[in-house]
Order: sequence, then structure tokens, then C-alpha cells
Amino acid sequence: MSAPKRAARPGRVVKTQRSVARGDGAKPSSFRSVGLRVDHARLARAAARARRRAYAPYSRFPVGAAVLTTDGMIYTGCNVENASYGLTLCAERVAIHTAVAQGRRRVTALAVAGPAGATLMPCGACRQVMDEFGVQTVILASARGAPAIVSLSDLLPWPFTGRSIRRRHAGL
Ligand code: THU
Repeated sequence: MSAPKRAARPGRVVKTQRSVARGDGAKPSSFRSVGLRVDHARLARAAARARRRAYAPYSRFPVGAAVLTTDGMIYTGCNVENASYGLTLCAERVAIHTAVAQGRRRVTALAVAGPAGATLMPCGACRQVMDEFGVQTVILASARGAPAIVSLSDLLPWPFTGRSIRRRHAGL
């Protein structure tokens, strides 16, 4: 695994070309693909690079992901499949858990890059794990055209959280 990188100064905005949101049907209302911040653009590129390391001999569907932590570090992941299909790990969860294993538990943004031409929408399990570690912004990178941005609250409006567990125990 390559050394984690520190992201560019947040806040600055780069203009990207208009939407590329193809292939997945209706998108949330907040789905947009212009005005990508510099650190988010860098995250999208890191996800696209991580996709090259995907181990996907069964699906032939390579995915890369990258997360930005609150202290400005970037960690990447790719999907890792197994002959026992159910053991497959998604790229997003590999990236998030890599950050956690390196002591970073607060993730602000995640970028994911699917196969060329497709805009990959993260699976439900990955959305739940994103919520656990504080992801707010999801960047949908595409090999063709500009990335698009969506908020996690649009992707997962009613998450199951640690607060739900504590409330349940309080009532016992
Ligand atoms: N996959 C991901 O890596 N992330 C997702 O959000 C959806 C699916 C991977 C898992 C599997 O290796 C392949 O894509 C096909 O499902």
C-alpha cells in the first residue's frame, strides 16, 4: 500500500464540465457535478487510481475509493473479491477501514470510482459504514467526464446509528 497523502487546502473551487450522471437512473435532487473543490477533485483522482488495484476476477467490475479525514489525510481502497463470493469487500469499506486502522475515525468525504463509463452509486452497506465514520460528502467519480457530488444524507436519509442503540438500552 502506498503512503497516505495529505490533501490540498480545502475550500478552493475548480470548475468542471457539466454532468456525466449516466447509467443509474434517477439521481437525488442535490446531485451536482460543477464547482468541485480542489481537495474533492484530488480525492476523485485518488479513487480512480485505487481502482487499478481492484481484485475483481469474478465480477470484472473494478472499483476504487478514497476518503478524506478531518486532519486532511487521504486513504484509498479497492474492491477485493473472493471465490466464496459473499466474502467480497467493497472499495468504500476497504478505504474507510484502512483510515480507521491508521487511527483516523473522522472522515468528511469519500470518492468512489467504478468501471469506465459508469457512475457507481455506493451499495447500502457502504452507506451505513460511511455514516458510522461521519462522511458528509460523496463524490461519484467517472472515468469519462466530471465527478458528481451528493450528500450522504440524501443517500441514507434514515441511518441506524449508535445513538439508536444507547436509547434502546436506556429503556431497559
Ligand atoms: N462494489 C464496490 O466495491 N462498491 C459498491 O458500492 C458496490 C459494489 C464491488 C463489489 C464487487 O466486487 C463488485 O463491485 C460487483 O458487485
